[in-house]
Amino acid sequence: MSTELNLSFPDRKLLPDSCYMSFPLNQTEYLIDGEIQKWVGEFEKVYSPVFLNQNGVIENYIGSYPLMDKEKSLLALNSAVKAFDNGNGEWPKMTISDRIKCFKHFVLLMKNERTAIVKLLMWEIGKSLSDSEKEFDRTIDYINDTIDALKKLDRDSSRFTISQNIIAQVRRAPLGVVLCMGPFNYPLNETFTTLIPALIMGNVIIFKPPKHGVLLHSPLLKAFKEAFPKGVINTVYGDGKKVISPLMESGKINVLAFIGSSRVADILKVQHPKPHRLKSILGLEAKNPAIILPDADIESTVKECISGALSFNGQRCTALKILFVHESILESFSERFCKEVSKLIIGMPWDNGVNITPLPETNKTEYLIALVEDALSHGAKIANENGGKFNRSLFFPAVLSNVNNQMRIYHEEQFGPIVPIVSFKNISEPLNYVISSDYGQQASIFGNDSDKIAELIDTLVNQVCRVNVNSQCQRGPDEFPFTGRKDSAEGTLSVSDALKVFSIRTLVAAKENDLNKQIITDILKEQKSNFLSTDFIF
Ligand code: G3H
Repeated sequence: MSTELNLSFPDRKLLPDSCYMSFPLNQTEYLIDGEIQKWVGEFEKVYSPVFLNQNGVIENYIGSYPLMDKEKSLLALNSAVKAFDNGNGEWPKMTISDRIKCFKHFVLLMKNERTAIVKLLMWEIGKSLSDSEKEFDRTIDYINDTIDALKKLDRDSSRFTISQNIIAQVRRAPLGVVLCMGPFNYPLNETFTTLIPALIMGNVIIFKPPKHGVLLHSPLLKAFKEAFPKGVINTVYGDGKKVISPLMESGKINVLAFIGSSRVADILKVQHPKPHRLKSILGLEAKNPAIILPDADIESTVKECISGALSFNGQRCTALKILFVHESILESFSERFCKEVSKLIIGMPWDNGVNITPLPETNKTEYLIALVEDALSHGAKIANENGGKFNRSLFFPAVLSNVNNQMRIYHEEQFGPIVPIVSFKNISEPLNYVISSDYGQQASIFGNDSDKIAELIDTLVNQVCRVNVNSQCQRGPDEFPFTGRKDSAEGTLSVSDALKVFSIRTLVAAKENDLNKQIITDILKEQKSNFLSTDFIF
């Protein structure tokens, strides 16, 4: 018997308190040179992926933000360059413990904005209430963990080394102006996983929020202004061509921290007049496969694959985006998988227990439908009840069976709720897929036989950067390195790696003679230098 899907949108008058906000939120402000300034010019209108029902379904206008221009963007750049002052600014020269004090102040201010930010995550990108809360809390934890990791790094560097009669102290110094751009699916967390380590290492920031997920940053403008010195954080908003290209073309951006598509990353990198001076930290596309072996435990594999493929509607770079299932268990796996998909609740971000929520990207549903139609035209089948049913931004997951390499879904990163299942006979089939793929982030293996798993591990670790055993692909815990090969990433992020990525090892060295020993002793005793110091941060 077919289950009736409810793909309706809510009535504005019946919204629960957990999501209530006074809209529209017209953000007219931006932060440059330590001042919250008012934008006079064009604005971008923000529509929620959550449509409303008001005598029929209507678009839901929730606010606007400044569409800044080249001139303002260059003012943000000048402000950052001035604050860094070739490394002589207050912030890059500040002691680590003083920088940590600023961060602790920021955390206190940020925590006050939790409710507003969580609600804006729901309205702007359609993330469920519990996932929005998790995103906020994980970000606070990330900041606190970064502070602890920096203390450790600093303690390890607060001593001297003597080698071949040379005394040296090796520390890490900032790189300069960092341009931070995060993705829409984790607009707060993933932006902060670059912004926070970059800042705490003494760099200065120009920060552009993702296209979907701008307004949720607005409650933090005041906190940035209050917690950090003038010019250390600057915000820009608007069309990348107008506000980002001039920054790159100036040659004054030292680090590009970007999470998005490799197409955009490539455009930005070549705009820098001296690309060798630009350090890039990139999180890009992925098409992580699950390889399900004949002896995999169906129950737990299905559970991991549902969560791996469909959490936040499959809009995670780490999502399982293609499932290779051994032909001997294809039927039982698919049947069980589809049964679990049919239990998923589609609804609004604040609905109790909701799994599938409205998609924020413009025309995303149309894109997903095109992928499904292309697959069907090449012999795929929709295996689950209600698979692919949609209403505007709502799209119920489609499980596609009989998927083959003729189909777009086999190659393209769907970044949404479609789960392609490919049947395989020989393990070389999924392995060849991984080897010939443009992507190389992670893979999951499901099975019981340690010999077979060990063999696969040894092949896969040279193709991707994390192999998950009987577990879905994921970024966390944030202590673990997060990176990728090929078109999937450049640079490695984790709480401790990020501190290294946004800094450079720098040392002070002196021949070991009486004069130099005396000079170093004087500097240390009278705490004359912030760099050359044996102070221990507790
Ligand atoms: O979108 C990419 C994210 O880094 C994925 O993080 O695995 O914790 O959801 P996650």
